[in-house]
Amino acid sequence: MKFFIDTANLDQIREANELGVLDGVTTNPSLMAKEGIRGDENIIKHYIDICNIVSGDVSAEVISTDFKGIVEEGERLAALHPQIVVKVPMIRDGVKALKYFTDKGIKTNCTLVFSAGQALLAAKAGATYVSPFIGRLDDVSTDGVALISQIVHIYDNYGFPTQVLAASIRHPMHIIQCAEAGADVATCPLSAITDLLKHPLTDIGLAKFLADAGKK
Ligand code: G3P
Repeated sequence: MKFFIDTANLDQIREANELGVLDGVTTNPSLMAKEGIRGDENIIKHYIDICNIVSGDVSAEVISTDFKGIVEEGERLAALHPQIVVKVPMIRDGVKALKYFTDKGIKTNCTLVFSAGQALLAAKAGATYVSPFIGRLDDVSTDGVALISQIVHIYDNYGFPTQVLAASIRHPMHIIQCAEAGADVATCPLSAITDLLKHPLTDIGLAKFLADAGKK
């Protein structure tokens, strides 16, 4: 299972990378705005800065919603750095653009996926990654992890190479449940990754080992 960090915050990306378990980064327009990154030049520089910190895939999202705009914007983003993956929303023109990028060998991440049918379309269009938003499903009393299991099952039935990238992860249990469900990737806030470290028995055990080591 790959771990991506879901942020545009460079300090958090560096911290996750230094932990040695980071495989990539996902961003979206909201995460960029949260860091105050606005304007074409600043956005482009920020994506390049992220690519220079990590060695894996970095998703950069288009904001156009028509085929021509998505293609133009996606090609510009893909040309920035070999690690860039073009993130495309699950809309009609987005599906067409996914197929276009697939045929051109440009990697894609189909975002805002909330159903198995949408995930099937993304795979048919050749998306590199599909991003079901599990936290936002949980928010509306729908089982997000169950959707991950359903998509993994469907992709396995037909050998689709599209990787299931569990997104909108809110806490460490989401990561564990997605691992059980067979997600290829979990994209997480830094806190969900570092919370995996925690266990009180580890702390108690370590305190005892250190105390015993200090005894004559
Ligand atoms: O990867 C998608 C993610 O950024 C959405 O997360 O917490 O806004 O639902 P959230």
